[in-house]
Amino acid sequence: MNNNYSPQLNTAISAAIQAGKIIMRFYSRLENLKVMSKGHNDYVSEADQQAEIIIKETLIKAYPAYKITAEESGSNDIESEYEWFVDPLDGTTNFIHGIPQFAVSIGLCKEGKPVLGVIYDPFKNELFCAEKGKGALMNDKKIRVSNCNSVKSAVFGMGIPYRKQDHSGHYIDTLRTLMDARCGSIRRLGAAALDLAYVASGRLDGFWEFNLKPWDIVAGSIIVSESGGHVSDIENSEDYLNSGNILAANINLHQDVIAKLKKNLL
Ligand code: IPD
Ligand code: CA
Ligand code: CA
Repeated sequence: MNNNYSPQLNTAISAAIQAGKIIMRFYSRLENLKVMSKGHNDYVSEADQQAEIIIKETLIKAYPAYKITAEESGSNDIESEYEWFVDPLDGTTNFIHGIPQFAVSIGLCKEGKPVLGVIYDPFKNELFCAEKGKGALMNDKKIRVSNCNSVKSAVFGMGIPYRKQDHSGHYIDTLRTLMDARCGSIRRLGAAALDLAYVASGRLDGFWEFNLKPWDIVAGSIIVSESGGHVSDIENSEDYLNSGNILAANINLHQDVIAKLKKNLL
């Protein structure tokens, strides 16, 4: 419990840490992990399910009148100006392969706009969080986006489409645009929420991906904006929570990328 944080943020942090403990218990005996298929290249494990149960219990106990949308169990029927978005385990493919790049992501929207977010990497014990107007933190220390202002020297994170093919053409065009601009480097780390936390903390200069869901990006988008970054969709509209197409970077780099994309694809 941190007195500098709102009760909602303290609750979300508590939920994320409890979920992280469950996730790490499963990670320590991966050979016994039960994994189920939800669709082509789309998996859910017991770890995702158990983590989601504890997160929902914690959030509902503290805020019974808030709506909750969680990846594995969907939305409750509550009408509220507040809505939690829960990804109990972002980076499931990494997790089931024993690749230690995964996180819990919990975001809260008020009237459809992100107001707080928590992203917790239980393997590295790194907790990123932010509240509107209060800045962003990693393990209680202020974080800032990088000051890289040119695509030429930028290290980007991104997501390669692997479930549906519909975004692959658009994705290839974006990738080609940045490669043709001879950008610094490109990484596919495999957990979108953590990619956003890495933009917020300056580890990545920018990140883009298509077709994400609100539980992947609500927490990360407020953490990026509170760390001085800019978030939009790749046409520079603010509709990224609905479209799921996201570009996050500091404002100068963001403008550089949008200008290059406009010239080449839009
Ligand atoms: C996925 C990861 C991945 C991204 C996918 C997401 P999940 O989330 O964030 O990096 O490329 O689009 O769906 O399924 O592991 O929670
Ligand atoms: Ca996810
Ligand atoms: Ca997930």
